[in-house]
Amino acid sequence: MIEFRGLYKGFGGRPVLRGIDLVVREGETLALLGPSGTGKSVLLKHVVGLLEPDAGDVLVDGVSIARATDEELRRVRRRVGYVFQNAALFDSLTVAENLWLAQDDGRGSRSVASCRAEAIELLRRVNLEPAVLDQRPGELSGGMRKRVGVARAIASRPAYLLWDEPTTGLDPVNADTVDELIVELGQELGVTSIVVTHDLDTAFEVGDRIALLYEGRIRACDTPPRILESPDPIVQRFVRRRRAADVPGGPSAAAFPG
Ligand SMILES: Nc1ncnc2c1ncn2[C@@H]1O[C@H](COP(=O)(O)OP(=O)(O)OP(=O)(O)O)[C@@H](O)[C@H]1O
Ligand SMILES: [Mg+2]
Repeated sequence: MIEFRGLYKGFGGRPVLRGIDLVVREGETLALLGPSGTGKSVLLKHVVGLLEPDAGDVLVDGVSIARATDEELRRVRRRVGYVFQNAALFDSLTVAENLWLAQDDGRGSRSVASCRAEAIELLRRVNLEPAVLDQRPGELSGGMRKRVGVARAIASRPAYLLWDEPTTGLDPVNADTVDELIVELGQELGVTSIVVTHDLDTAFEVGDRIALLYEGRIRACDTPPRILESPDPIVQRFVRRRRAADVPGGPSAAAFPG
């Protein structure tokens, strides 16, 4: 379980997160929507201690990230896979070596070669050919790098996954592949996920619940059908396009009669 408790964070006197209270339940996939620059990435970074709260806390399996020792933080990081918004791969290493860093988990007990078969399987899950293993991130397209970032995040078989815009920049087929992977990991392995996304299809496809971060607070958090029916006009602004697609006789149906 991941619990945000009154989390505050600002930069240079400008508040970004203004009291986040949110519980991500065991085994749940929570989709997080919100305007650009509202603090979604900042929120995720607190879960693994990449940023320190100004006030409040995040608890991962009951461990306070604000007060964690280095050893506790290392243990939490081993349990949490992170798909960074910009993939964040090491450019000087091959894809195989990038994956190995997660597969070996910094323990130095496995060689790159012994991880290769498993690495090929990881790449298969994100629709990439084995040949990609011997390339460097700079030789790949943005969408391919993104998918290597996903493969790396799942390489250590984490109990938790933080996905920062996992389908942004992917073509529709690969976006679907990643959506399906998120659902599979949740259903088959019981992985608990937070999925930050601007993609309403992804949010509604993968989310057991959908939360909206707005002006530094969680404005709404509920099941997809209840979010769609929310009376809050701010929530409606975010899901309107989805409503138009879903609701018979909604705006899109009116635009395309017959
Ligand atoms: N390390 C940092 N130092 C200073 N300001 C930061 C830092 N990280 C984030 N910010 C600021 O915090 C705000 C929220 O940033 P964040 O990256 O979390 O937005 P976001 O919701 O993820 O946006 P997007 O949807 O565009 O990715 C922005 O104004 C950003 O400039
Ligand atoms: Mg972001």
